Amino acid sequence: MSTSPWWRDAVIYQIYPRSFADADGDGIGDLPGITSRLEHLRDLGVDAVWLSPFYVSPQNDGGYDVADFRDVDPLFGTLADIDALLDRAHRLGLRVIVDLVPNHSSSEHAWFRAALAAAPGSPERARYVFRDGRGEQGERPPNNWVSNFGGPAWTRVTEPDGRPGQYYLHLFDSSQPDFDWTNGEVHEEFESILRFWLDRGVDGFRVDVAHGLVKAEGLPDADLSIDPHVDTTTLLPMWDQPGVHDIYRRWRSIVDEYSEDLVDVWGDDADRVLCAEAWVQPSAALSRYVRPDELHQSFNFGYLMTPWIAADLRYSIADSLEATETVGAPQTWVLSNHDVVRHASRFGYPQRPGLARMPGIGADDPQPDTELGLRRARAATALMLALPGSAYLYQGEELGLPEVTRLPDDARQDPSWERSGHTDRGRDGCRVPLPWSADAPSFGFGPGDDSWLPQPDEFGPLAVDRQDGTEGSTLELYRKLLLLRRSRAMGRGGLSWIDGQGDDVVAFQISSGELDTVVIANLGAADLPLPDHLTVLVSSGTHDGDRVPPDTTVWARRAHGT
Ligand code: NOJ
Repeated sequence: MSTSPWWRDAVIYQIYPRSFADADGDGIGDLPGITSRLEHLRDLGVDAVWLSPFYVSPQNDGGYDVADFRDVDPLFGTLADIDALLDRAHRLGLRVIVDLVPNHSSSEHAWFRAALAAAPGSPERARYVFRDGRGEQGERPPNNWVSNFGGPAWTRVTEPDGRPGQYYLHLFDSSQPDFDWTNGEVHEEFESILRFWLDRGVDGFRVDVAHGLVKAEGLPDADLSIDPHVDTTTLLPMWDQPGVHDIYRRWRSIVDEYSEDLVDVWGDDADRVLCAEAWVQPSAALSRYVRPDELHQSFNFGYLMTPWIAADLRYSIADSLEATETVGAPQTWVLSNHDVVRHASRFGYPQRPGLARMPGIGADDPQPDTELGLRRARAATALMLALPGSAYLYQGEELGLPEVTRLPDDARQDPSWERSGHTDRGRDGCRVPLPWSADAPSFGFGPGDDSWLPQPDEFGPLAVDRQDGTEGSTLELYRKLLLLRRSRAMGRGGLSWIDGQGDDVVAFQISSGELDTVVIANLGAADLPLPDHLTVLVSSGTHDGDRVPPDTTVWARRAHGT
């Protein structure tokens, strides 16, 4: 086993399979499409890919509603296609992490169908969270919890005899019933699912809703005035319950059993990893997920939600590094994913402290400043990729893709749009299929014109073939950053702050062995003179040699350094 394993500084690229590449031309991305485009990721310079779900699913929540955890949905291909993808990725030196969705299944899962057909109190119902309603006729839900997508978190069933019956809990869509993690059978099932995919050769798992599996005993009412993204100290009864950590200790021991299995592919650096999707704050609470005997990584969503304001970023970086150092884990940075407004658009709005997660954007909402957003996004990425630890990229950010803010409302598929009573436009805007070739139908996403969400004209000039080899393009910037990050071992470095550059600047040095890299991000409105002992290695924007323009990050070395 490696003493300095790969995941501690890995850059991992998220693929949302529906929107990456479509080989069969049905307008929906698929596994053969992904396999055919893996060279793009090798050339980008990432270490691994994370695949969002490709399992059998009615696709009510983009595949996060899983009906069979051990098989591929025909929309995406077959188990043979995933084997081929794994094989090709491994040959290209790319690890593959898959999504594990343990909080809930689809309502079409065999277990849930059996639960509906069985009586209250039966073992079939005990795999999910079924409860009687409140009120004389059970006419009110068992508690006041609300779904993350809007509306109540409980749905009442019709019992097999035709009468209105119990309620089941769903923290997300009504077609995503929550499992009951007090039931040993659920534990056994997920341990077996982990082994199924480990045996197939995956390099790890991203754990969906990792902070939600265990609910407070007795399912007490929640204080609905609390927004967990804003109030980070009050524990809600459905999130971050202490019992989740026992589950992760057990899973860690399972994946560790497999850490020698892929030595023929990776030599002694063959750890399989677990990464938590846990919207938990403060950083100290989040770091509990990455204690040495738990998960390897946990997305730093506090950083993702930090506005483009120097003081906020300095605080967020220092605070999150300290939290993970306390438990001996690396930090896991991220700016975009399939659930949030793309950072090239988030940063195109006026920035203010305490930004929460933004709802989706529609054509009649205020629009972002696209040019400003892209300039800041490039600077933000250059800042993030300089930080010690691991980083996740979301497909299309290497092209500088903006959020698609003018999707027709009738094209929207995210359940948030309907469930919120059309108050949250949801996440479709960051899920629009990728542009590969500016002049091809569907911009090269598939062989024909079809794409499950309409692509805007602005995607043409951003297509991979327009940016490949084009000096100054966002794609070339990402390639350069990733190459330098690797050659200067920055992900393994130590960070020391450089003071005295002014309030609007984030500046630090990353030291790794003999190599020192100075990183300066100028978030102010005026040019920043570059100290004259520095030689710029890469700049997120233009720079004329001795000045760092506004909204620009540079990496530099000292004149006599390496
Ligand atoms: C988090 C996933 O990232 C999101 O896309 C999904 O809707 C929820 N979990 C529910 O599975």
